[in-house]
Parts: sequence; C-alpha cells; structure tokens
Amino acid sequence: MIIDGKEIAKKLRSSIAKQVAKLDRKPGLAVILVGDDPASAVYVRNKDNACKEVGFYSEKINKPLDITQAALLAEVERLNKDDKIDGILVQLPLPSHLDANQVIEAINPNKDVDGFHSENVGKLMQNKPHLRPCTPKGVMTMLATIGVDLTSKNCVVVGASNIVGRPMAMELLNARATVTICNSKTQDLSSKIKQADVVVVAVGKSKMIKGDWIKDGAIVIDVGINRLDDGSLSGDVDFDTAQDKASWITPVPGGVGPMTIATLLENTLTAYTAREEK
Ligand code: GUN
Repeated sequence: MIIDGKEIAKKLRSSIAKQVAKLDRKPGLAVILVGDDPASAVYVRNKDNACKEVGFYSEKINKPLDITQAALLAEVERLNKDDKIDGILVQLPLPSHLDANQVIEAINPNKDVDGFHSENVGKLMQNKPHLRPCTPKGVMTMLATIGVDLTSKNCVVVGASNIVGRPMAMELLNARATVTICNSKTQDLSSKIKQADVVVVAVGKSKMIKGDWIKDGAIVIDVGINRLDDGSLSGDVDFDTAQDKASWITPVPGGVGPMTIATLLENTLTAYTAREEK
C-alpha cells in the first residue's frame, strides 16, 4: 500500500490551521534564503505559501549571494529579538564562504524550528526532545498514521546526514526500535536492508535501493528526491520493483516531501506555544 504523504500533510496543515484560528497572536516564521539557487528558492516559496495557508505570520528574507558572515549573523540576531517571530529557518546549503554551523548555533534554540542547533540535537539524543528536525519527525508522523508499533522492529537508516539520517536514527531509537545506521561506506548494504522491517533511505542516488533487497512485508520510506535527465522526479528506491515486496511504501513525489513542510509548521506552533508559556 502507498503511504500518501500529500494527504497526511494536508490533514496536519488543516489541524494546525484550526489551532491557529483560536490564537490571539499569529505564530511567526522567518525563512532566510541566501543567493538564488532555484531549488532552494522553490522550497522557500513553498514554505511561505504553507505559512499563509495555516494563518501564520511569515517573513521571507532574501539575502545576496555575497552577504558576509557578520551580516548574516546580525540578521539572525535581529530575528532572535523580534517578538513576532517564533521560528527561524536558514535555508541550507549556504554558499561555501559562509560557516553554516556558526549560523545555526546563533539561532535562539527556542526558535530553531529546524531542530539543527546543538541544544536541540542533544535533547533529541537524550530522548527529551523539544524542536525536532522536520523530515525525520514527518516520517514518524507517517509511521504513526499507518499504525505501526516500532517497538523491537529492525530499522535500517541509509544515510547519516545531520538533516535526515542521524536524527532519523534517534527518532526510531526513541520509539524503541533496533536501529542500524548505514552510510556510503557500508559493506554489503543489500544484506543489511534484507534484515529490515522498516527501511528509511536518504542518500540522494536515484533508484539505488533495489526491490529484491527488500524483505517481504517491509515498510519502505524514501526520503530521496532526484531529478532525472527527462525532467521527472525519482526517489532513492526503485519504486516499481520495491512496491511488490513492501507492505507500505512512500512514493516520490507525494511521499515524505509534503510532510517536511507540514512538520515545519507544526514545529513553529510548538515554538510559539513554548514561548507563550514562558
Ligand atoms: N535544505 C534541505 N533540507 C533542509 C531543511 O530541512 N532545512 C533547511 N534549513 N535547509 C534544508
């Protein structure tokens, strides 16, 4: 069966919109985009549109490609102090002359709706999470929606990035799964995947995971979005062969992608609530 991320995300947005309608002040999200990378520009536009849909206050901040580190840090500091803003997101990747880690660490951890600040990473690792990275949290929402109990399940995460792989592994561990984290140097990846009740793939290589690697009845979550030469999108999993083996599988597009932005809105509402309660 197909896990319809588009539909789950739509329900999540509509639940957020209902909660926002009852609030005296609108939750506010600021998104900073440096330069004009077309893919990043699309993501930032989608985030801005999603904010409007649920009734958030939204600031889309475009900065020139040659902005200095000091000027970018000053912008973050301005948003840290702005009471209208509950969430701050700096679209990654940043141009190579900028130090992304220093920028992330400059964000007030209570406004870090990406969950990338070391304080939030640490809290997730201690199983006392506050703001959780959007893509892995969105995957957990999908798994909850299909009603899977992860306790003692064998989960294999392919990819070890700070944005997806590492926090994904922690989320699954926090849900009491047995977790294997694979990376680009993993030996005999197919044999690892053959053991998995749940596979989450985030590597950025089109159709790298083959259907015959998937255990019968496994749940397959494909975080990859790859643009093929013919302009179409494909995931990291060979969907056509994998769907015959999997009990549940996410499509690309329409799977994990829409969940990430809906979860960003959810995080912004969490940050808002935490700030209002202070
Ligand atoms: N670039 C790709 N994914 C993400 C994300 O989740 N957050 C940010 N800030 N940048 C990204």
